[in-house]
Amino acid sequence: MFQSTSGGNGSGGGAGLGDSAFHNGFLHGGVSGGAQLTRSRPRRGTRRRQHDQGGGASDPRVSQLRDHQDTERHPRPCTDFDVAYFNSYAHLGIHEEMIKDRARTDTYKNAIFQHQDQIAGKVVLDVGCGTGILSIFCAQAGAKRVYAVDASDIAVQANEVIKANNLSDTVIVLHGRVEDVEIDEKVDVIVSEWMGYMLLYESMLGSVITARDRWLKPGGLILPSYATLYMAPVSYPERYSESIDFWRNVYGIDMSAMMPLAKQCAFEEPSVEMISGENVLTWPHVVKHVDCLTLTIEELQTVSTRFTFKSMMRAPFHGFAFWFDVEFGNPSVNNSKSNNAQPALVAAPDDTATETNKSKKRANPSEGLVLSTAPEAPPTHWQQTLIYFYDPIEVEQDQVIEGSVTLTQSMENARFMNVHLEYSSGGRSFVKESVMR
Ligand SMILES: C[S@@+](CC[C@H](N)C(=O)[O-])C[C@H]1O[C@@H](n2cnc3c(N)ncnc32)[C@H](O)[C@@H]1O
Repeated sequence: MFQSTSGGNGSGGGAGLGDSAFHNGFLHGGVSGGAQLTRSRPRRGTRRRQHDQGGGASDPRVSQLRDHQDTERHPRPCTDFDVAYFNSYAHLGIHEEMIKDRARTDTYKNAIFQHQDQIAGKVVLDVGCGTGILSIFCAQAGAKRVYAVDASDIAVQANEVIKANNLSDTVIVLHGRVEDVEIDEKVDVIVSEWMGYMLLYESMLGSVITARDRWLKPGGLILPSYATLYMAPVSYPERYSESIDFWRNVYGIDMSAMMPLAKQCAFEEPSVEMISGENVLTWPHVVKHVDCLTLTIEELQTVSTRFTFKSMMRAPFHGFAFWFDVEFGNPSVNNSKSNNAQPALVAAPDDTATETNKSKKRANPSEGLVLSTAPEAPPTHWQQTLIYFYDPIEVEQDQVIEGSVTLTQSMENARFMNVHLEYSSGGRSFVKESVMR
């Protein structure tokens, strides 16, 4: 027997929660706990652990566990860090911030309606439905049935929103991890907003791949379809001055003794902040391009690339900026993408030639809808992620900057990301290790 938070699936879909959800520490479909006082994406929320499992177990709206054993699958266990992660998404502020990000939400809405011919009359899965907004867009686009899955307690609210909009016959809210819930039919479309800071932070893409491998029909559609992570060297004297040079003269007092500590405090970890196109010293390098239809979870564990830049100007070089874009396009619809799903960007990720970096511009921007978090694009809540050096390097015009970057899922907490950066310029070489937590 299958049950959902919407109290049934009158349209005929079958769904529920596997026993694994219970074994992984869930008292019910979700991972309850007190909502955290965080407004931003779970960068800060994941730092605090919550073990409080109360709140949802007695709620009649939450899904019930299925009574058969899932013997074949071995979903990744739900750790304390995952519980804290899902708790951070139980707070309304984080959803408000995302929904108010017009660049993000409008692009998803437009992409869903642009693919209406592939959604109308079809079965959709929304991986990480949050408030249910994308599921509702899909229902409005004519989906026959939408499975809206979220492990956070926000799923309970999503279910209320679905009911209030008279969509309970179409949208079935499942309160649990996609790794654990059961859906007894294949889906035509997967929609998900999974991108973290620096694209891969938060490690939610693995859950989308799991969902794809469990339920997506051959030839099905994933929105977004492609994602690309970029990096570029930046100069940001104002930022350096405001955090470091500030200590040279504080109310007439020489506090420069603070400067080493100030550098450590300001620049030890990656920093999420907004820069402008003017801060960027040259064309970006593609760190990783993924096709969501073919990507494997193993590919995400370590992402590594070598880069070569040539500074376009003489400037103090303060660090590297990272940003991403995602593209909503179906290879079977876009002729130019053929069946082997060519990426929207021309060059290969490991192409290190500086001249060819210049060709890493969108081949044809009209092909698919793109949500970009680049410095020159409209601002988003993701901003850009900066990895600053402790001391700037003075670079001349045309000076070469080369090295490598490796992004690895943290062993301590798979939601965290280790960043290993090696770079050299002007005959000097450096290594910077940091953790995005
Ligand atoms: C970035 S939010 C997006 C929310 C909503 N789709 C939107 O666009 O506003 C990601 C959501 O995915 C949920 N989530 C992340 N990983 C999940 C998983 N493995 N199973 C179920 N839900 C997950 C989180 O709890 C969170 O609510």
